[in-house]
Amino acid sequence: QTGTKKRDFLGFTGLDAEKIIELFDYSLHIKQQREANRQTAEFRPIRHKTVAMIFNKPSLRTRVSFELGVYELGGHAISLEGKSIGVGERESVEDIARLLSRYNDAIVARLHEHEIIETLAAHASIPVINALTDLSHPCQILADAFTLYEKGLWRDDIKVVFVGDGNNVANSWIELAGILPFHFVLTCPEGYLPDETLLKQARANAKSVIEIVHDPMEAAKDADVLYTDVWTSMGQEDEMAERLKTFEPYQINSKMMAEAKSSAVVMHCMPAHRGQEISAEVMDGPQSIIIDEAENRLHVQKALMVKLMNHDVYRKFHLTH
Ligand code: CP
Ligand code: NVA
Repeated sequence: QTGTKKRDFLGFTGLDAEKIIELFDYSLHIKQQREANRQTAEFRPIRHKTVAMIFNKPSLRTRVSFELGVYELGGHAISLEGKSIGVGERESVEDIARLLSRYNDAIVARLHEHEIIETLAAHASIPVINALTDLSHPCQILADAFTLYEKGLWRDDIKVVFVGDGNNVANSWIELAGILPFHFVLTCPEGYLPDETLLKQARANAKSVIEIVHDPMEAAKDADVLYTDVWTSMGQEDEMAERLKTFEPYQINSKMMAEAKSSAVVMHCMPAHRGQEISAEVMDGPQSIIIDEAENRLHVQKALMVKLMNHDVYRKFHLTH
């Protein structure tokens, strides 16, 4: 990396629409190579490189897709349980950042406070990737938007309706709308609004329409995508009983589907709770592309790691395609 500024991925800020589409095109290439079994021994863009992964919260998709992704790109991933390293407790975030920068080539981190990942990135000399914080989950939304893109569904006026909590996943959709033009609607109960700063920043992009509508049935009208997430995020378990009651009208079910376009697709970042934020019928029905989006975490994150960890390979692909 000598001479070039290291690149992080903490969110979408700093990217433009063109760079995001470039990343999608590379993700598609990576996916197709894997499907055609063409990931030959020669394609090892992060060979001999290692990625330190810090998980301060549970994970299935993120952990597996990153670890597998690193392996498939020729590198090695080291999984660190937050509890055992004690981020900011056993030692300071700054020291962890400096030390891992000596051992490893990138850091993937799932943390509570977003400020901690910013501190990590500020003090690390290697790329830092946000694998979810209380504020945002950009790798997820990258995979989600890519899923729509590869299916030929992405358009400037695509109406994506996020049904539920104005949480980290909703915030990342909003952040994306600040860069890539589309129509985003969040339907949530009063008091469960998304991050105000991200919303304000995103609204500065006049090419996107960003709405907050409290009536879920009204919001779902003519939707191209109905999207949901858990009602109780990791770390909010104490509020579960209250949330179960408050969010009841915000379930994606057949009745809500009837409001959306007949061609609408249904998405969920998972883990999913049938009978809560989504009915079993819809989750497992023909309009669900939920497993596709989960699979795509692998492909987009591989593309992202090549972009951040071996920019020459990434650039060369775009020069030749
Ligand atoms: N969607 C997602 O990030 O899943 P995990 O929490 O299992 O990683
Ligand atoms: N909003 C959820 C996303 C899980 C992938 C959470 O933070 O728990």
